[in-house]
Amino acid sequence: MNDATRALPRLGKIGYGGDYTPEQWPEPVWHEDVRLMREAGVNLVSVGIFAWALMEPAPGEFDFGWLDRVVGLLHDAGIAVDLATPTAAPPAWFFRRHPDARQVTREGHVLGGGARHAFCPSSRAYREAATGIATQLARRYGDHPAVALWHVHNEYGWASTPCYCEASAAAFREWLRQRYGTLDTLNEAWGTTFWGQRYGDWEEIHPPRLAPPGVNPAQQLDYVRFTSEEYLACFRAERDALHQLAPGVPVTTNFMVPNCKWMDYWRWAAEVDVVSNDHYLQAELADNHIELAMAADLTRSVAGGRPWLLMEHSTSAVNWQPRNIAKTPGEMRRNSLAHIARGADSALFFQWRASRFGSEKFHSAMLPHGGTGTQIWRDVVRLGADLSNLDELVGTRVVPDLGIVWDWESWWALELEWRPSVDLGYLERLSAYYERAWRAHRTVDFVRPDSDLSAYPMVLVPSLYLMSAQAAANLAGYVRDGGTVVVSYFSGIVDETETVHPGGHPGALRELLGLSVEEFLPLRAGSCVRLDGDLTADVWTERVVLAGAEPVRRYLDGPAAGEPAVTRHRLGRGTAWYISTRLGGSDLDAVLADAGLVPRDGVPDGVELVRRASDSASYLIAINHTERDAELTASGKELLTGAPCHGVLPLPAGDVRVLRAAS
Ligand code: GLA
Repeated sequence: MNDATRALPRLGKIGYGGDYTPEQWPEPVWHEDVRLMREAGVNLVSVGIFAWALMEPAPGEFDFGWLDRVVGLLHDAGIAVDLATPTAAPPAWFFRRHPDARQVTREGHVLGGGARHAFCPSSRAYREAATGIATQLARRYGDHPAVALWHVHNEYGWASTPCYCEASAAAFREWLRQRYGTLDTLNEAWGTTFWGQRYGDWEEIHPPRLAPPGVNPAQQLDYVRFTSEEYLACFRAERDALHQLAPGVPVTTNFMVPNCKWMDYWRWAAEVDVVSNDHYLQAELADNHIELAMAADLTRSVAGGRPWLLMEHSTSAVNWQPRNIAKTPGEMRRNSLAHIARGADSALFFQWRASRFGSEKFHSAMLPHGGTGTQIWRDVVRLGADLSNLDELVGTRVVPDLGIVWDWESWWALELEWRPSVDLGYLERLSAYYERAWRAHRTVDFVRPDSDLSAYPMVLVPSLYLMSAQAAANLAGYVRDGGTVVVSYFSGIVDETETVHPGGHPGALRELLGLSVEEFLPLRAGSCVRLDGDLTADVWTERVVLAGAEPVRRYLDGPAAGEPAVTRHRLGRGTAWYISTRLGGSDLDAVLADAGLVPRDGVPDGVELVRRASDSASYLIAINHTERDAELTASGKELLTGAPCHGVLPLPAGDVRVLRAAS
């Protein structure tokens, strides 16, 4: 392990702790907090996230006395600080002074106060004020030995709405000028001959505000790109101030992978010193630990495979889901360790101590309202002890088995209005393919469509609707060199400007797949089709015309009866598979097995198995999500129990084992 591979060099161990809001409590409670943090093994807390109004009670008047005392107390107790810039919650005085900095919805409503995040990312006043408070913090705490990390803002894009105000419109025009250079190029890219939308002056262009249905899809897509970039510019402004005044302290901002659709985290990840993510279990989702695994794999992937920080998750129920289901015994521990298995170097929570007031008072915490006499507290103390046995994992890297292409732009484009079926969904297909890999005990790296794929024997490409010619050439090169791709329907249809690739669908992929799609044949709600081999599919079918590919399975009924449903095309030294309909569960397994994705031998169903490794050691993390005891074949030293293991690793129901493999 070296510093370059650790998520957080100053900490040097698995981070444990959470968001800490001393500003909600009288000072004597802080002393109790620090004592209990030590008891639980807490070594890292995030401070100040929403405390702008306390740090700067009036414009230009600062009060850092309370924060000095908090940071000092934590430092004396050996607890590192992830110090936040509080810019996700501008004070009431800021909006009073700058009413134009409020966010405006697509419908034209101005967002009110009393919450957080209501600012416009293109507002000059906001950027100046945010950079100003970040600068104050950097000056005051930049060389404080407790500060291990800067936590800029909180969950950019959380309110998930682009802003449609006049300042945003002006910034959008400027962004478009940079992107297209001339109006002719923009008119061409946006296809403005359609419905006579041609622009003759930049001032005629507006954000895609509420309008009659069918707003130009290229304009809508560019507005999402622009919004992601505007928030990123806010981040960069704060980050640069911190870097300048406090060099040496890494800067992060907490992502919401994959639940924030509107930020292109491939681009964001390139701008942070360390990637961090917030993840909340979807309590009512069956087998929700698979969605957790997908989020963790995607976070590690945007981090380029480097270790990352789990900035927030919950000890039990949250407060914002329709039914806030409490975690079952052992579930928190499995969740935390699953993130660690998939490359996190920390397990941090929202939040340390449950709030007594405000909108999150029913959210679980490390220290619940019931205090230390509770099961949650006992579990928190136990997890702290467990993590202290895993410090040698810090900086090690997850070993992947296959790649799945993930692309935010394609997600945005696929889910614009007026698609061939309302049943098309990006996350639905990504999750369906990911789940099959998870159930086969295969570890997934998510990859960009244009990244180097040569490390993977197989790459899955679910619903990559928007695809550049460059990405298509990349996939074809990968296959020619011996790779296997499995492409699902409605992929390779349009280019970056939402323009259909010429020559028939799927324009970007016809050569690679050895076929064309003559017509989309979406199905009625609730209807199914049958395929050879006793498979059933729904939602979508196509009229596939072969041009080099061989049929592997045909439709037995439905609008494409008798025609190819699944095909295989040998190209160069590799193979390109195409699945033209929606398969799930064991039906999808059957096709993926034909393509080479088979379950790992000797691992029982419901057991999650991931490997992290360094140059000198290899670790197997096994999580039993079932109610049955299991065992694996392995040898080495088990780190949570300290027990040596010779050949057989027992994995009790609901439990976790971390094995340092015998070399
Ligand atoms: C988000 C925020 C936190 C808190 C939690 C509640 O992740 O970052 O401030 O609101 O959700 O789950």
